[in-house]
Amino acid sequence: MKLLIINGPNLNLLGLREPAIYGSQNYATLCENLQKWAKELGHEIELFQSNHEGVIVDKIQAAYGNFEGIVINPAAYTHTSVAILDALKAVAIPTVEVHLSDISQREAFRQFSFVSLVAKKTICGKGFDGYREAMEWFAEGGQ
Ligand code: DQA
Repeated sequence: MKLLIINGPNLNLLGLREPAIYGSQNYATLCENLQKWAKELGHEIELFQSNHEGVIVDKIQAAYGNFEGIVINPAAYTHTSVAILDALKAVAIPTVEVHLSDISQREAFRQFSFVSLVAKKTICGKGFDGYREAMEWFAEGGQ
């Protein structure tokens, strides 16, 4: 399948950023893993990272008609962005939400996700493997 994989703000700083929570591997290593898993699972992927809400909205809008699935870690925008929720609803591309950490076990402000309102599936607390699980879900037909 053709999948768009979106990572939100500060995920470009993986490795440096709070390694006790997000791990010691960097964003480039995440991208290498994603490409390797895509090959294994028969997906064609595009990787996209931005620190800017509107840029992420533009990318989701541009995905319409071009991608069959979206895997998104909206990072901090998970908890704040009605705009990203609305963009995902507008394009109606099946979406899986991924978080490296288990947001349900963290601060109260992280426990609500706007994106969960549209995501077919949410995967939390599995580190990089969460993205693999999302890609497997699409490979298995998205059920
Ligand atoms: C995150 C969790 C968010 O609360 C946080 O703002 C992030 C990363 C995660 O992957 O665990 O930036 O989405």
